[in-house]
Amino acid sequence: MIATSTASSPVVYCLLLLLLHSLHPSVSALILSGSTARTSVAALRSTNNDDNNMSGDLKRILVTGANTGIGLALTKQLVSEYNCHVYLGSRNPERGAFAVEEVKKCTGKDSVELLTINVSDDASVQSAANTLSEKLGASSSKLYAIVNNAGTGFCHNTPPSEILDTNTRGPRRVVDAILPHLDSTNGRIVNLGSGAGPGFVGGNRLSKERKMRYLNPMEEEEIEEEIAHILKMNDEYAAYGGSKALLACYTMKLAQVHPNLSVSILSPGYICTDMTRGMGASKPPEEGTVSLIKCLFEDLPASGWFWGSDGLRSPLHYMRNPGEPEYDVLFERQWNFNQGRGPWGLKKNAEIWNGRVAQVAFVVVLLQELITGKGVIASITDGDAVGYAFLGLAGVGTLGLTIWLAIKGDESDIVF
Ligand SMILES: NC(=O)c1ccc[n+]([C@@H]2O[C@H](COP(=O)([O-])OP(=O)(O)OC[C@H]3O[C@@H](n4cnc5c(N)ncnc54)[C@H](OP(=O)(O)O)[C@@H]3O)[C@@H](O)[C@H]2O)c1
Repeated sequence: MIATSTASSPVVYCLLLLLLHSLHPSVSALILSGSTARTSVAALRSTNNDDNNMSGDLKRILVTGANTGIGLALTKQLVSEYNCHVYLGSRNPERGAFAVEEVKKCTGKDSVELLTINVSDDASVQSAANTLSEKLGASSSKLYAIVNNAGTGFCHNTPPSEILDTNTRGPRRVVDAILPHLDSTNGRIVNLGSGAGPGFVGGNRLSKERKMRYLNPMEEEEIEEEIAHILKMNDEYAAYGGSKALLACYTMKLAQVHPNLSVSILSPGYICTDMTRGMGASKPPEEGTVSLIKCLFEDLPASGWFWGSDGLRSPLHYMRNPGEPEYDVLFERQWNFNQGRGPWGLKKNAEIWNGRVAQVAFVVVLLQELITGKGVIASITDGDAVGYAFLGLAGVGTLGLTIWLAIKGDESDIVF
């Protein structure tokens, strides 16, 4: 019975198509294209599946702060769905061991082991690097990725100095110690940033010059200068946003210095974890891994970018919410313009004043027409002195003022 129906279904399908084609060719074309699309989507899924799960190419990944929250959720997904062996970083060995057992129980796999690591402590990070080196040496393999997930702030009730030390210096400590064990050609570094970073840069806590600084890669000394500046604010929220904004600057620097690696920073979204409990976040940790998975496995167009929780590129100076258009070059140009630079490098208020001066010139020409009772061309052909004077005033005034403003125009009206 089953055999008959399976064998006959393609025949019935073809007959149906012939019938529809005879009614109207576009109807059958539509059905055919739909089935092709379905086939290619299925093929794509199976290819992705092959790439991520089935190739047998086990990927070794370190996730710091993975004993709970987003790090733990990511670890479970990496082990169960992406054929990874995860070194589950935890500063507390007991909590870490508990999490390792939880991952094994949830996934039914053993591809996870504890790595004790406190990212705020140089000695702990170095000791973790040594342990990792032994573990990797035993299997003569390299690490595929480092996920700098450990972080603190908000409900953890940590002081600003600890927030900045953990969130900004922590990833640097980890990368410095563990980089020799990372695959130097295909390796990836994924840093957990936050929408609070762009919120801080776009907010009112920084001067215009400082804001511009936060849009570029920063050297370690510059980062330390900014940490000292943020600490003076003595505000946990500024410390958290600032720590993540500086992490973005560090990410860009890493991408610059290691062009062979794929380095990213991302926002996981507003996720309910120990860090945010009671603050209105409702999404479970498993939903905070969209951009993490993208940055770990997809071919990215560039290194050093900041990704939103929906997996789309986001700006560093402005909060982009999921569902809003992806940040792109056009966005950047519009923003640059609003920051004071026009298409030819003209200063913003030069462009505005250019328009105003042209309007004044127009009024002058109009006045000339009213006073002399002649149009512009007639004034010139008649050799009318008043007409010439008005036209000269309008021309020299417009051009002169525009050039002067383009060179001298100040940018005091920049609005972030
Ligand atoms: N939840 C959100 O809405 C949200 C939004 C944006 C960004 N993020 C970022 O996402 C990352 C994960 O946060 P989460 O929401 O999953 O919070 P979480 O559940 O509280 O997890 C934070 C993890 O970081 C660990 N940690 C803190 N300080 C550490 C240190 N010095 N050394 C090693 N590990 C340390 C914690 O270990 P213990 O268990 O020992 O404390 C814990 O494992 C953080 O970087 C956070 O800034 C979260």
